[in-house]
Order: sequence, then structure tokens, then C-alpha cells
Amino acid sequence: MEKILYAKPVIDSEVEKLTKKCSELKSSGKVATLKVILVGQDQGSVIYTNNKKKFCDKIGADCEIIKLSEDISEKDFLAKVNEVNTNDQVHGVLIQLPLPKHLSHIDTTNLVNPAKDVDGFHSSNIACLFRGGKGLDNLTPCTPKGILTMCNYYGIDLEGQHVVIIGRSLIVGKPLALLLGNHNATVTQAHSKTKNLKELTKSADIIITACGTPKKFNSQYFRDDQSQIVFDVGISRLPEGGIAGDCDFHQIKDQLKAITPVPRGVGPMTIFSVAQNLLQAQENSL
Ligand code: GUN
Repeated sequence: MEKILYAKPVIDSEVEKLTKKCSELKSSGKVATLKVILVGQDQGSVIYTNNKKKFCDKIGADCEIIKLSEDISEKDFLAKVNEVNTNDQVHGVLIQLPLPKHLSHIDTTNLVNPAKDVDGFHSSNIACLFRGGKGLDNLTPCTPKGILTMCNYYGIDLEGQHVVIIGRSLIVGKPLALLLGNHNATVTQAHSKTKNLKELTKSADIIITACGTPKKFNSQYFRDDQSQIVFDVGISRLPEGGIAGDCDFHQIKDQLKAITPVPRGVGPMTIFSVAQNLLQAQENSL
């Protein structure tokens, strides 16, 4: 197996399938259509949404970024969401997070029409994972789904493997634990209050870091027998410039069997999964 698990070869190998599926679905009369709601101009959000649009363009899907003003009223914001939720020309809806402070109390996860929920955040989509879903034909949260796609491509068999996930967010940690458990991994969910974290990570076959603390996981957290695989979901801006994952990549890479880099690792897989979910939503609507 490759030591550095890049997203690019995974996406290159799958993009043709996705493009073909998009074109087949188009013959049903409509091109797959995604509406991304972006409120304000948060720098990270602008980049993420542009990348989502670029990828949709690449596979022949239609993606519109609906740019709403930073100070939009709650009523107008909700009206916009309702408009795309109920428009049957729209197959996918995504509300880019974070929202500005005055809207941040809104539970956006259950605001999007579950049939169009390409993020896979809606309770009814999460429920599919509770019931044992393997993330194939339902709308599954994108980062977990992207990690699974990487495992399939790189020949990482999850069955019986001890996977330690550090993080318990609604977007990554929680759904990831369910999804990998449904693929017969033995999952331990760790978090900021976990005791003896180093012993735990050292005992794992696969470690997935999703806590957002740059370079926290250094060589002390891993064995040095080149048998462990690390997926680094974190992406943080460093005060000195540049970005880093949750892992100290350069310090640990030689002691591991394989590791995803930051950037160009898990991040692009999340965008890929959005496109997969969009086509899934369109297919389900037919
Ligand atoms: N902001 C950062 N990551 C995400 C994501 O996966 N989905 C949405 N909607 N917003 C985000």
C-alpha cells in the first residue's frame, strides 16, 4: 500500500463513474441540480463552496451558490431555504456552515428537506446509520463516506479492525463511528475527556483524528512498527501561515503504515461525497 494516501487517485478512479451516472440521470429529463446556500463571506466557506461548484461542473451537474447577505433576516433566510426545499427542479440543498452569529441558533441539520440533504445531516438520514446502513444508497454524511471510499480504493479492510476515532461531532465523529461499525470495524470513540489517549491510539489498527487541534498527534501517540493507518480529518490555519491537520505529519509518517496528508487527503473526499449524494438524491427522486 502507498504510504501517503492522497485523495486524487481515488477521485480520478471514480470520477468517470460519477460523470456517467450524471449523464444517465440527465436523460431522465433534468440535470442534477444542487443549491448551496452561503450566508456572508467567511473565507473558508467561500473556498469550500467554490470547490463544491467546481466538482459539480466537472461531472456535468449544475451547482448554484446562492449568496445571501451577512445580515439577512432570519425570516428571509428561512424563506430561501423553503424555496429550494420545495422546488422540484432542485435535487440537492446544502447550507454552508458556519452561519453568522444571529442565525447560528437555527438547527440547520433538520431544516433541509431530508430527500435533498446532500450533507446527510438530517435526523432521518442519520437514522439510516443507526439501523445498520452501509452508506451506499442513502444520503450519508460526506466526510465519513469519503473515508470509506478511500478505504475501498486503498484496499483497507475494516472487518475486525480496531478503529479509534478522536472526535464526536455530528458531522464527522458520531456518524463515522456508526458507519465503520456497520462495516464490522470495532470502534472506540475518544474525545477531549478520554483518559490514557496515547495508550488507546497505540493499541489501534486505524486512527482517525477529527478534533481540530493542529499537530496534536505527534510520535508519542503511535507505535513505531509501521503497522498503523491514520486518517487526519483536521484542517486548521496556523498562526504563522499555512494549514495543518490534527497530526504532526512529518514527525509521524515514517513510523506508520500509511497516513492521509493535509491538505489533499480527506478534505477533497468530502466534496466528492457531496456529488455522490447529489446523484443519489436525484436517483431516489425518480
Ligand atoms: N462547513 C464545514 N464543513 C461543512 C460541511 O461538511 N457541510 C456544510 N454544510 N458546511 C460545512
